[in-house]
Amino acid sequence: TTVDVLADDYELGGFPDFMRKEMAEQPEAVERALRGRLDERFATAHLGGLGLDAMALRAVRRVKFLGCGSAYYAGQMGATLVEELARIPADAEPASEFRYRNPVVDPDTLYVAISQSGETLDTLAAVQELRRKGGRVIGAVNVVGSAVARECGSGVFLHAGPEVSVASTKAMTNMTVSFAMLALLLGRVRDLSASSGARIVNGLRALPEHIEQVLGTDDAVREVARHYSKATHMFFLGRVRGWPVAREGAQKLKEISYVHAEAYQSAELKHGPLALIDPDMPSVVVVPDDELLSKNLSTMEQIKARGGPVIAVTNADLPDGLADHVIRVPRGEPELDPIVFTIALQMLAYHLAVELGRDVDKPRNLAKSVTVE
Ligand code: G6P
Repeated sequence: TTVDVLADDYELGGFPDFMRKEMAEQPEAVERALRGRLDERFATAHLGGLGLDAMALRAVRRVKFLGCGSAYYAGQMGATLVEELARIPADAEPASEFRYRNPVVDPDTLYVAISQSGETLDTLAAVQELRRKGGRVIGAVNVVGSAVARECGSGVFLHAGPEVSVASTKAMTNMTVSFAMLALLLGRVRDLSASSGARIVNGLRALPEHIEQVLGTDDAVREVARHYSKATHMFFLGRVRGWPVAREGAQKLKEISYVHAEAYQSAELKHGPLALIDPDMPSVVVVPDDELLSKNLSTMEQIKARGGPVIAVTNADLPDGLADHVIRVPRGEPELDPIVFTIALQMLAYHLAVELGRDVDKPRNLAKSVTVE
């Protein structure tokens, strides 16, 4: 019955903590997010809750994602997906800043308010500011009936199931999956070809299996975490698609392990932070097997040349000696790489936090949903 399912969601069921349980639930959570929404025949997605017909979708000239914390980084991944697949300008901004800067609200922009809980006050206030100024705003929310969902009135529900751990895992994954579908839909009413659309549909269908494979590398990731458990600082580096992945990886490490972590775009390293590289500053480098692979290899070389330890998270075949440790993720469609790479970094942060004896589900000073200013 429904009641049993709900009770299960709030019980550990053999897992040591909720974060671990919710990470393990990601393949099924993604299945739920995709269910009934992929259209093989037209190589597109159906997101009925948006309340936007083809003409309204065509009229969108820009997309802005707004969210806080992990939801903001998911929005940054969404913006990259929209630009890549639909070729319309898109960006993400912390919802917590939005209302304070007298934002220019543009009638041709589709605003997307992102929130797992739907109760984050900063995100709700951004939605209210948008609506007050006549902006078109949809929600990307996990909790049905929550304040953000109600205020937006339309959008895409995440279907991740209840998330208990303060650090978001499956809900954040489903945010990015939902934005891949939104980007596909926006692309297919424009010039994204049927074959490219089909490639993304197939890539999305393969995600649950790929996520299983990432979760299957748990022992190897734990070994890496053990090796670096004495580190007091870490860099997280990525470029373009890998940049929000690096930011989310750094955020997770900070919030649950209390180890200082900073994310940089790989190309920015040489403009300042390279001065910090030494044997006590490990760098986690996001290295997808995509058109920027050679650039990421040179990033690793630059770090190695200064004696910095390198942990590569990759689905490429790396030359010997470039990385001290490698965390392997499966190959999928390159546009969707951020989803599986992010899960590998959740696991790294998780194992480091456990190694350090932290309370991973309830990190100090943090709350699951922040309903104050
Ligand atoms: C809090 C949590 C974060 C979360 C953010 C947004 O700060 O500690 O983990 O990403 O809120 O939460 P939301 O429910 O709006 O997605």
